[in-house]
Amino acid sequence: MKITIIGTGYVGLVTGACLAELGNDVFCLDVNQQKIDILNGGGIPIHEPGLEEIVRRNRAAGRMTFASDVQAAVAHGDVMFIAVGTPPDEDGSADLQYVLEAARSIGRYMNDFKVIVDKSTVPVGTADKVRQAIADELARRGAALEFSVVSNPEFLKEGAAVEDFMRPDRIVIGCDSTPAGERARALMRRLYASFNRNHERTLWMDVRSAEFTKYAANAMLATRISFMNELANLADKVGVDIEAVRQGIGSDPRIGYSFLYAGCGYGGSCFPKDVQALERTARVYDQELLILRAVEEVNARQKYVLPKKIRARLGADLHGKRVAVWGLAFKPDTDDMREAPSRVIIGELLRLGATLAVFDPVAMDEARRVLALDFASRPELLARVEFSDTQMAAVQGAHALVIVTEWKAFRNPDWTQVRAAMQSALVFDGRNLFEPFAMAEAGVEYHGIGRATGVPNY
Ligand code: UDX
Repeated sequence: MKITIIGTGYVGLVTGACLAELGNDVFCLDVNQQKIDILNGGGIPIHEPGLEEIVRRNRAAGRMTFASDVQAAVAHGDVMFIAVGTPPDEDGSADLQYVLEAARSIGRYMNDFKVIVDKSTVPVGTADKVRQAIADELARRGAALEFSVVSNPEFLKEGAAVEDFMRPDRIVIGCDSTPAGERARALMRRLYASFNRNHERTLWMDVRSAEFTKYAANAMLATRISFMNELANLADKVGVDIEAVRQGIGSDPRIGYSFLYAGCGYGGSCFPKDVQALERTARVYDQELLILRAVEEVNARQKYVLPKKIRARLGADLHGKRVAVWGLAFKPDTDDMREAPSRVIIGELLRLGATLAVFDPVAMDEARRVLALDFASRPELLARVEFSDTQMAAVQGAHALVIVTEWKAFRNPDWTQVRAAMQSALVFDGRNLFEPFAMAEAGVEYHGIGRATGVPNY
């Protein structure tokens, strides 16, 4: 099938590459010429395991085209995916300007029936706005052309994006029940046929419910995390091991084990933004989502838990103290630093006077870029950050090690070597990577999150 993807960000590029891999003829459009140049040069603008090979293979096979030519892009696809960014507005609602600009471009240049698929995470009612924007452009041209807007939210996780796309738990598709909507449904069924071969994975619903489902999923996952984080903080105080509790409650199939890991807070491009946007939608309808407000607040506070523990253990004045930080990306297997807890933790430790040696296996360049922006008005603070070449270089001479991201490379360090390199074998683990008893055996003073080993009254 002929597919056009508008926007070559995370979602767009992964969708385009995976659909090309399935044999479709994919045109990827981006207004950012620099991104197009990178892609045409054989590179990819993001770090995502497996993606580069798929893009290379399908480009070579002629199944992927990258260009900034809007007219050619609209002419190409029978199915047009809108996968542009929806950054938060100042008030937390999703900013739809890029989505609507994409819609207007489609209306401006389309010459035959098109299925327009909202792939970006967009609030309930966005499909109506997209439909209107296209209709307005068509009316302006005096063109009477049929089209249908479909909602097909993406549930992929960064770091596992290709795998998630290729092996989805479910495919949510919202279609209208008009004749054009039925035509769109038939095309979408054909496009996703190979995913449904063994068993039907597609959940068909109306457009608004599909839009809402994406927010509901992310809000539920964020809620689980904040709930566990809040309990973990209490566990620290009452001498309970949150990991035992996780297993104890996860074994109930109604609860399940996943997404119950306490830590130093969630980050990324989705949870923080989507929780806020859903709250914002509710407010438009005069409703307040009390649970989500708490989820957000708990998460904001959770990013300060590690600095608080460090402060309780080493004192409020960290001048003269060297702290190593392992992990800067908001999660492993990505260089994404959006809303990453590391940014808050670094800021707080610097404010307390510490000197930092930071390391991430992939996100070093991104960290340099983002931290320079975070500390644009306080360069004297950033001057106390050393960007280390290896994880061992970071711990050299450190009074404490803080683990912020659970990269595989951090899971099994040689503690004898780490201890020998550090001034004091003191570890604050924001991802609960180790068993407290094993750390005690290794001669390391260990503070996890809710592992009954925390500093009391931090
Ligand atoms: C998320 C959703 O999982 C995905 O379905 C959606 O399409 C986009 O948003 P992503 O942001 O890529 O994906 O990462 P995810 O793996 O979900 O992790 C999000 C954050 O939650 C990370 O900061 C992670 O460290 C944190 N997290 C996750 C926890 O703190 N505890 C957990 O138990 C799970």
